[in-house]
Amino acid sequence: MVGAMQASIYELLKADHKTVASLFEAMEASEDAATRTGLVAKLKHELLAHSEAEDIVFYQPLKPAEKVRALILEAEEEHRVVSRLLGELERLSAENERWKARLTVLRELVEHHVEEEEGEMFKKARSVLGRAQELEIGAAFLAEKKRIQAALRAAA
Ligand SMILES: [Fe+2]
Ligand SMILES: [Fe+2]
Repeated sequence: MVGAMQASIYELLKADHKTVASLFEAMEASEDAATRTGLVAKLKHELLAHSEAEDIVFYQPLKPAEKVRALILEAEEEHRVVSRLLGELERLSAENERWKARLTVLRELVEHHVEEEEGEMFKKARSVLGRAQELEIGAAFLAEKKRIQAALRAAA
């Protein structure tokens, strides 16, 4: 395991993506309303902090680079839709027959988004960012995520 301070932004983003994937697994398997509601809250906490921190420390510095710009703009749109769907899932009773369908659509969108990030976007980002920047952005990501999670907890 790489020390947290030395982790590159790519490793950190991938680790978060795994956490989110396993939360989706658990949600898909869940049956009772209390478990579902708890998992939605957890997913929201993870996903919003991840997306927001990712946007600030990774997307924004990459955006001026011509070869990544279109991908970043698309990813920003996806973050916006993910956040909206997440809100809609949160507002839906876990007992509603629609709950699983709504979860599935959110999951598919997130999976598509993650695939593009870890594939095309990381590849292009690697041609823009040097090794020192990968680590620097990694450290900034951890700090930013911590700050956002504290704000989310305070608002909950
Ligand atoms: Fe991500
Ligand atoms: Fe993202």
